Amino acid sequence: MNTQSDWQTPNISRRGFLQWLLGFSVVSTVAGILVPVIGYLWPPSRQGVGYQGPIPVGAVEDFPVGAGKVVPVNDKPVIIVNTKAGGIKAFSAICTHLGCVVDWKKEKGVIHSPCHEGLFNPVTGAVVGGPPPRPLPPYELTIKDGKVYVGKPLGQIYGA
Ligand code: FES
Repeated sequence: MNTQSDWQTPNISRRGFLQWLLGFSVVSTVAGILVPVIGYLWPPSRQGVGYQGPIPVGAVEDFPVGAGKVVPVNDKPVIIVNTKAGGIKAFSAICTHLGCVVDWKKEKGVIHSPCHEGLFNPVTGAVVGGPPPRPLPPYELTIKDGKVYVGKPLGQIYGA
């Protein structure tokens, strides 16, 4: 059975409550400033997210002759192109000039960087126009059971 003393509210003065509230606010504010600063200075490591082997990017039919398509591979854009001269190829889709993501210019049959009109050969990745200083690095590409797999980059990716 409860007595009146069991249900008494704690004896907290108004001053004590305000001091506690002020202290809590100061600690919260300091933590709110320090946590992002610490997170910036010591970012979490990305260990364990490394190369996991070739990944499927689609069926062979998804890349008909004369087509080009940008697909994500291990968090990086990769352009898959299929030409009569070179067959299906994969290159980094990050332009070697300033890092824009390239696209496919079907009417010209070239890989195109929209930022400064850089142009790349879809068979070799070589620069054929504009300011890019280096070719697009190729990626490992294999075809197995009608599927296209992209593996490791075979050159230095811009910004990596
Ligand atoms: S970023 Fe590609 S041409 Fe400048």
